[in-house]
Amino acid sequence: MIYAANFKTNHTRSGTKRYLEELQQKISGRNTADRIFVFPPFTALDHYEGDYTLGVQNCYPVRKGAFTGEIGLEQLEEFGIGTILIGHSERRQLLHETQEIVAEKFAFFQQENFEIVYCIGEPLEIREQGDSAVVEYLLAQFDGIDTAYGKLIIAYEPIWAIGTGRSATVGEIASTHKVLRQSVSKPILYGGSVNPSNIAQIVSIDNVDGVLVGSASLSVDSFYALITA
Ligand code: 13P
Repeated sequence: MIYAANFKTNHTRSGTKRYLEELQQKISGRNTADRIFVFPPFTALDHYEGDYTLGVQNCYPVRKGAFTGEIGLEQLEEFGIGTILIGHSERRQLLHETQEIVAEKFAFFQQENFEIVYCIGEPLEIREQGDSAVVEYLLAQFDGIDTAYGKLIIAYEPIWAIGTGRSATVGEIASTHKVLRQSVSKPILYGGSVNPSNIAQIVSIDNVDGVLVGSASLSVDSFYALITA
């Protein structure tokens, strides 16, 4: 299973350091094939070593240059970062990243051999239109994306389930992951209000290869509870 913590705009540099030290204490010596990812904010990046992979939540698709306020590849390389989240719905919606921009980022970081956690997810009005509308919407988010890329992980995060405390139902997750599995032969994570009380049920669903977690990953105890559920 894959357990990924997306801190979003939470935790400071010192808070992240404490978190990663505590996490490492808890997970070291675990003998499992599980993979753990942590995506802290940029300001918390540093040289960490542990039984987890540190990634970034975003990056501008450029090595360096005149892109005021952005972070480029050169700044990630300083910390040995080789993993990135691309296409998160908060960036698509709040930061107005179009499918074109998302695909451009994907191509750039694929070229740089990054491990990419590529996020897709539908808004509530599409979910309310039924399964075929959902599938059509989700598959359109693969436009311009090389889904055969070897270092790709998909994260399915229905937008209406993110940060709302209302996870998708087992049936919704199962049917959506099943359809996605027919189009991509990569690990597929579920994200959206995953917490210690629903994790066991979610990871037991067919075609769910792990979880991408926001709120319930912010406390190391809670994230560790997910990993060991
Ligand atoms: P929550 O776990 O807070 O619903 O957030 C999910 C998410 O967006 C992870 O990327």
